[in-house]
Amino acid sequence: MSRMENLEQHLAQLNAIGIALSCERDLKSLLEKILTEARSFTRAEAGTLYLAEEDALRFVVSQNDVLSNSAGGDSASVWFDGEQLPLSKQSMAGYVGLTGEVLNLEDAYRIPPAAPYRFNPDFDRQNDYRTQSMMLVPMRAADERIVGVLQLINARGNGGDVIAFDSRYEDLVMSLASQAAVAVCNVRLTEELKRAYLDTILRLAVAVEYRDDDTAEHIRRMANYSVLIADELGFPPERLEMLHYAAPMHDIGKVSIPDAILLKTGGLTDAEYDEMKRHTEIGAQILAGSQSPVVQMSAEVALTHHEKFDGTGYPGGLSGQRIPLEGRVVALADVFDALSSVRCYKPAFPLEKCVDIIRNERGRHFDPLVVDAFLRRLDDVPKIRENRLPQVPGLSGSEVLGNPV
Ligand code: C2E
Ligand code: SIN
Ligand code: SIN
Ligand code: FE
Repeated sequence: MSRMENLEQHLAQLNAIGIALSCERDLKSLLEKILTEARSFTRAEAGTLYLAEEDALRFVVSQNDVLSNSAGGDSASVWFDGEQLPLSKQSMAGYVGLTGEVLNLEDAYRIPPAAPYRFNPDFDRQNDYRTQSMMLVPMRAADERIVGVLQLINARGNGGDVIAFDSRYEDLVMSLASQAAVAVCNVRLTEELKRAYLDTILRLAVAVEYRDDDTAEHIRRMANYSVLIADELGFPPERLEMLHYAAPMHDIGKVSIPDAILLKTGGLTDAEYDEMKRHTEIGAQILAGSQSPVVQMSAEVALTHHEKFDGTGYPGGLSGQRIPLEGRVVALADVFDALSSVRCYKPAFPLEKCVDIIRNERGRHFDPLVVDAFLRRLDDVPKIRENRLPQVPGLSGSEVLGNPV
């Protein structure tokens, strides 16, 4: 196969990945793949990918065949944690990030004195390495914005000697870098949509219950408890993330409950409680028929979050595994938060009492496996109560992307 056919095949593969991509987890591996591909076409022994932030370039991933410990085979990727360069024309990557020009240098130690940028030899000194030929290309998004920089080091000739980068590869590497840029923009947009979506749900829930901060906080906590339990149960990341977005809508059916019942300070009469119970089916109706898997999961959770494992819950009186697992998880998260918070009809109970009630309902109200998972993660509960959870397990955070620019 010719090198060009080979390239086309790889690009098609990358395209497919870019389209399927929906979260940062995938993005990380795509960026790594793009670095690997760019190195393989140019036969570069090392390379680094940077993403642009407001006034800095953040190191994302580096590879170096010579310095990596693995003898032969694929060189391991090094992932960075916040290290960055100032975005200035004095560094080579900064220059490319600011100007969008390609730099193709035969020897990093022989940069013409008139050039605004300098090679920083610190890495070479610290690692007893010799950087020689370099190619740096901008990662340009569809709107021409520069999202990052791809840097390749030491092209190897057929004899294994270091040679200059062939300038015919510039366009190829640029198009690989653009793939990466488009993927980064897509993920940022998706993250923005998710934030807007969650914000909308919270506002809707607040509007439904007129309880402002309390309701929003209850929903935040119960969604986090749900994810915590589901993570302990071994949900894969996609299903965890869906649950994080689906759980907040569990009580949306309360929109149809009259204020006289919803906001009543005392206990409910039987008739009032019967009416209140309808919030499950009404919620499911409101959310029914959506194409969105998250909304489908919400509908299921709205319908089943008051079912009990022993079959004494409502509206269906379902028991055991007939209750969808998400419904069983949200049931515990919802009750635990109701117990540990003030409600218009009850005070907040001390944590120990809440845990005792949950434990006591093992196999009755709640699935024993769900109770056990929750109890194993009790240490994480205060973090959720006090809203100092750095990152819910499995949820996409900002470790790759930083803040959207
Ligand atoms: P909610 O306040 O979000 O409570 C959710 C669930 O937490 C309740 O579902 C119940 O299973 C549990 N829970 C809440 N407080 C306690 C408690 O003090 N002890 C125990 N063991 N469990 C508790 P449930 O009972 O199906 O209630 C559904 C919704 O109906 C409640 O949502 C609340 O909005 C309303 N509600 C329930 N009881 C009363 C009441 O006595 N007065 C008023 N005003 N509303 C009530
Ligand atoms: C609250 O009582 O603060 C919120 C109730 C809910 O949304 O489940
Ligand atoms: C599932 O993962 O939804 C099946 C497991 C269960 O229902 O307990
Ligand atoms: Fe409910």
